[in-house]
Amino acid sequence: MKIIVIGGTGTIGSAVIKRLASRHEVISVGHSSGDFQVDITEIESIEKMYQSIGQFDGLISTTGKVHFGPLMEMKSAQYQQGLASKLMGQVNLVLAGLEYINDNGCFTLTSGILNRDPIVLGSSAAMVNGAIDGFVTSAAIEMPRGIRINSVSPTVIEESMPNYEAFFRGFKPVSAMEAAMAFEKSIEGKQTGKVYYVD
Ligand SMILES: NC(=O)c1ccc[n+]([C@@H]2O[C@H](COP(=O)([O-])OP(=O)(O)OC[C@H]3O[C@@H](n4cnc5c(N)ncnc54)[C@H](OP(=O)(O)O)[C@@H]3O)[C@@H](O)[C@H]2O)c1
Repeated sequence: MKIIVIGGTGTIGSAVIKRLASRHEVISVGHSSGDFQVDITEIESIEKMYQSIGQFDGLISTTGKVHFGPLMEMKSAQYQQGLASKLMGQVNLVLAGLEYINDNGCFTLTSGILNRDPIVLGSSAAMVNGAIDGFVTSAAIEMPRGIRINSVSPTVIEESMPNYEAFFRGFKPVSAMEAAMAFEKSIEGKQTGKVYYVD
């Protein structure tokens, strides 16, 4: 299969590529690195990327930013960052990608644990994660041409703990490779409308 990994140069994305690269043609896309570059907050940039890459069978998104901050200090603009990047960035990858994805292809997006197991400072991440999981559950029943869509909702990643551990006390991290296996299941299996929890 020809599989595009958006965020393929990141912590989770690079593990996903390691698991898939021996069996598939994998295209790594980053913001400033990778085989191709895209800014998922810009629809024109997403369109340009698909025009450059052409038809594909799988799209994995392991990217998206949110603002972490105390609820009492959060402003609308800070929530907008997560909405424009992690939520609508990934949704727009799907909407624009529908024109380029082959029959029976698969989209797999990334959410995360924080809507299920909240932490202080995480209200924007929680909001966006819940929306992503809701989107894939519903979009799955309207996908044409046998196309599937799932999301992966990992807990904190072991490799990210040096940066995040002060915010995730008591959380048991999983390795990026364990999270990557859920993307593998999504792409290489037949399930659709699923949220894969990796805790
Ligand atoms: N790490 C965790 O513990 C964890 C846990 C649960 C969920 N998640 C979620 O998993 C996703 C990936 O996390 P990560 O830790 O693997 O991220 P990461 O290591 O920071 O990597 C981010 C990737 O996204 C790319 N990127 C950044 N801004 C972009 C943009 N505007 N448009 C397109 N690509 C862009 C980066 O490209 P460049 O390298 O070129 O900048 C890089 O490939 C995020 O949605 C995060 O919320 C992470």
